[in-house]
Parts: sequence; structure tokens; C-alpha cells
Amino acid sequence: MNILVNDDYASMSQQAAAIIEAHICNHERTVLGLATGSTPLGMYEALIEGHHTRGVSFKQTFTLNLDEYIGLQPSHPQSYHSYMHTHLFSKIDIPLHQTYLPNGTAQSLSDECSRYEQTIDKVGPPDIQVLGIGENGHIGFNEPGSAFSGTTHVIDLAPSTLKANARFFDTMDEVPNQAITMGIQSILKSKRILLLASGENKAWAVKKLMEKKIDDQFPASALHYHPDVTLVIDQKAYSQIQSESR
Ligand code: PGA
Repeated sequence: MNILVNDDYASMSQQAAAIIEAHICNHERTVLGLATGSTPLGMYEALIEGHHTRGVSFKQTFTLNLDEYIGLQPSHPQSYHSYMHTHLFSKIDIPLHQTYLPNGTAQSLSDECSRYEQTIDKVGPPDIQVLGIGENGHIGFNEPGSAFSGTTHVIDLAPSTLKANARFFDTMDEVPNQAITMGIQSILKSKRILLLASGENKAWAVKKLMEKKIDDQFPASALHYHPDVTLVIDQKAYSQIQSESR
């Protein structure tokens, strides 16, 4: 596991985007695994800037998102379909039929989970999978206790995740309490993983990850089974490791 520590959120975002941009520019076809949340927003802005100022084209890029809330229509402003459209897809030249997310309103959620896992295998696996990390160590929506052998599945969101997500909704009642998520096994299929973390609220999770102890109560620890993981983080997310090594 490599760790790249940046001064701040802006340089972390630029660095992550530069890694992705370099892959796209050097390959005929790129498959990206994408994440939502606050952390990758700056990286998406930097990718959009690369498209506008350096002419980076996403016409041969395919994307597979990690997760989607259950019960939100794709057009709902807080769905991850909307998030991706607003923050990336509508601002670059990616053909929309090359962008994939789980359908959180499918009639049969179990069929949807199998279908999405097949899509990952058919379109992917991702050349680069972008991940955030939850304060509790979740990756995608694989909450503590999730099986490391899990493929795409329905998950009940942990109380701490509901609380963290509440900032995007008017009332707590509107926060979806379930999601479809790629499983840990699905994530580990990716060829390379970039895990982004920014801010003091992620410092504990980053420190715990760097302890390198495999623990199913800390889902991100499954990443130690993967041969090519790079943590792209900022100083604040690194702060607990730094304070210990002083
Ligand atoms: P965040 O979410 O980027 O909004 O902090 C990350 C996550 O929960 O995986």
C-alpha cells in the first residue's frame, strides 16, 4: 500500500485526477470505478478542467459506480445517478451509455445485484477504482461486519453513515436507510485502487488502515489483500499518524 500525502484538499484532488488522466491518455480504453460523497468532488473538478483545458477525452472511458441508495429515483437530486450527472458526466464528453450505476429502484433488488455484478465483469474490472473511506472504515457502503467475500448486495446503512449522510437531506426521515453496493470482493477485482481521504474526521480511519490489521469490523482493512492500492490523502487525514511518529 503506497501513501501519497498532500498539503491540502486541492492538491490531493489534483494528484488523484492526474493519475486518472495519465491512464486515460496512455490507453485506448479505460474503465474507472467511481465513488460519490464529498471527497471526490475536487478530483472530478480537476478531471473536468483537464477535459476543457488539455482536451482530455472520455469517449473511450467506461465508468462503474460503487453504489446507489435504494428507493431514490435516478432523477432524485440526492441519488448517486444525479450526483454523477451533475458533478461529472454532464461536463465531459463521456457517452452516457458507457456509465453504469446500480438501479436502486429495481423491482427485484436481488436480480439487480446479480445483474450489476455481471456488468462489472463484462465492462470491467476497473483499471482504477476510486474509493472514499467512511469514518467507520466503510468502503462503498460495505459497513463494519460486511463479508470480505461479498459481491454486489443490499446493505442496511450503519447509524453513523445515516448521520453522516443526513447533511444532504432536509430531514432525517428522508435519508435512505438501505443501499445497493459493490461488495468488498467486487472492489478487490479492480486492477488498481486509489483511496482518497481528506480532513481530520478521516484521520482515525487512515491511522487504523495503516496499522495493517485485517479486521472485518474495519472493512477498509480488506484492501491489504490487494496488490496495488494507493492512498491519496491530505495532511489533515494523515495527522494522527504524524502525531504518533513525532
Ligand atoms: P465522504 O464519504 O467522501 O462524503 O466523506 C466517504 C464515504 O463515506 O465513503
